Amino acid sequence: MHTAILGTQWGDEGKGKMVDMLAEDKKVKAVVRFQGGNNAGHTVVVKGEKYAFHLLPSGILYQDKTCVIGNGVIIDPQVLLSEVELLESKLGKKHANLLISEKCHLIMPWHIVIDQITGGKIGTTSRGIGPTYKDLVGRRGIRFMDSGDKKSWQEKVSEELSWNKKYIDLLCQVYKVSKEEQNKLELNKKLSLKTIVQNYWTWLSKLRKNSLVKVGDVSLFLDKLQQQGSKILFEGAQATLLDIAHGTYPYVTSSNPTLGGLYIGTGFRPKDLRVGGVVKAYTTRVGAGPFPTELNNKIGEKLREKGYEFGTTTGRPRRCGWLDLTIVRYAKLINGLDFLAIPKLDVLTGIKPLKIAVGYKINGKVKDTFTVNEKELEKAKVVYKTVDSWKEDLTKCRRFTDLPKQAQNYITTIEKLTGVPVKLIGVGPGREQIIKKQ
Ligand code: GDP
Ligand code: IMO
Ligand code: MG
Repeated sequence: MHTAILGTQWGDEGKGKMVDMLAEDKKVKAVVRFQGGNNAGHTVVVKGEKYAFHLLPSGILYQDKTCVIGNGVIIDPQVLLSEVELLESKLGKKHANLLISEKCHLIMPWHIVIDQITGGKIGTTSRGIGPTYKDLVGRRGIRFMDSGDKKSWQEKVSEELSWNKKYIDLLCQVYKVSKEEQNKLELNKKLSLKTIVQNYWTWLSKLRKNSLVKVGDVSLFLDKLQQQGSKILFEGAQATLLDIAHGTYPYVTSSNPTLGGLYIGTGFRPKDLRVGGVVKAYTTRVGAGPFPTELNNKIGEKLREKGYEFGTTTGRPRRCGWLDLTIVRYAKLINGLDFLAIPKLDVLTGIKPLKIAVGYKINGKVKDTFTVNEKELEKAKVVYKTVDSWKEDLTKCRRFTDLPKQAQNYITTIEKLTGVPVKLIGVGPGREQIIKKQ
């Protein structure tokens, strides 16, 4: 059976660690990213060494696998190349193979500039994500396959650059970007045709020449693996509430981190798939947008400090709040979750009182599933259940029964109130700090 690991909240749930751990299974032959770009930051900690992956799938540390970047992922080749080079400087050539779909769209320097000008309201990662997906849908994108020969590459870049320079001029007027701010954006340096053509050509060529990297047909590759009876692990980036269609629009990312994104972003139909939702033991969010259980107080600060809640990609402090089961029920509805993985239970040690949101009171009625309707959210009063706290350190627990009764109760409450079994529980950042619940 194949497995998909998806974020259920607003991202940074601990998907990377769960994927790394599930990839240990020898029958898993491929680990696949299918959407998003280097807005993602997935952390894996092995023997005290911390790896932060932005584009590389979190199975990259296993030599016996192929990590796949599906067509739904958008690629900044400079970032991908430096990730590969950094990994190889630590491990040499002892990492998984990498297969990149030739259909992947490229993040170009103008996309990043446009994101810097327009992304403030949403609090984007400024990695060019929205503008690149906008060009993809608008049929103006540049794909990996467009970099086959240098002459047509140059023509394509030249055409798009001149169009985007005019667009950026217009944006500077509309967004009232002062001359000083424009200077800070270094538009002339970043938007030089010669530099872009040459740099991108160099980065893409270096990737193609790496003996462990292949650019090719992801659908064919995955189909073959399936026919051979191998297992495939799919790694979602971002999360359900950041989904462009199902999230807290417009405070979302520009891809589909929900299950549907897997099919479009790979061009592959997994025949037998279980879907695991990753639910951080509390809730965090980076960037702007609604967050009904947010704690703007000492408890929120304590969660941030204990959980080290600072963005893996941008370093921004994450907003922290109580676990919200209306969100988990919503994620179950949208993705059809078969099981849950709950990272960071250890962070809740010593948090008292300990609360879980179980419903929203809107116009006198209690709703038990999250709503992405902003008007409803404004009126909603969160209904909390207070649960028992515990003081014990959980980081050395390896069996469910090692957990104090109150922590066991926290997990079974989640199961009871969502109707989804919990299979994995995180008790620390390390690969081995996990409880497999029967
Ligand atoms: P992702 O984007 O969903 O992969 O999550 P991030 O890597 O951005 O953020 C999760 C953070 O929590 C990382 O720093 C992980 O090392 C850390 N982490 C993951 N699981 C656990 C856990 O069970 N306990 C603790 N204390 N930290 C964890
Ligand atoms: P992982 O995969 C948390 C957020 C940004 C911003 C919004 C839109 O590590 O869970 P974008 O740059 O995508 O246009 O920004 O989405 N965001 C994330 N928040 N984890 C992520 O990825 C995120 N990727 C994007 O902070 O609010
Ligand atoms: Mg992250």
